Amino acid sequence: MKIAIGSDHAGYRLKDQIVEHLKSSDHSIEDFGVFSDDSVDYPDIAAAVAGFVQKNKLSCGLLICGTGIGMSIAANKYRGIRAALCSEPYSARCARQHNDANILSMGSRVIGAGLAIDIVDTFIKTEFEGGRHSRRIEKINLAEQPD
Ligand code: RB5
Repeated sequence: MKIAIGSDHAGYRLKDQIVEHLKSSDHSIEDFGVFSDDSVDYPDIAAAVAGFVQKNKLSCGLLICGTGIGMSIAANKYRGIRAALCSEPYSARCARQHNDANILSMGSRVIGAGLAIDIVDTFIKTEFEGGRHSRRIEKINLAEQPD
């Protein structure tokens, strides 16, 4: 799978740890930065990762900021993006099974690297269950149609 990853300054150290972890997997990683502690605006990174996920059908995105909240709010403004803010693996699993989430957002000031990596691995390996959940996703999609 193609995995886009991005963070703001608050999340960049955790992002690098996740990138290191994912390098040992079969997935192809597209790193949208940032690469230092220098302050940036998280919506710019969310836009880049969301754009990648919109363009690449079999892909997902990982976003990290201080809380994960700003990244998830920003990413969810893009058509077809379902970004889930998760702080434990159960929510990450349900976000895939029930919500077909295509972006995982996490807070570097909320969780440590070990937990974040468990969450990422759970998110990546879990499939959407379809069925009744597809109908619900269709209803979310309808809300994206212009008036
Ligand atoms: C940056 O200080 C912080 O506001 C940002 O990383 C994020 O937590 C916003 O939601």
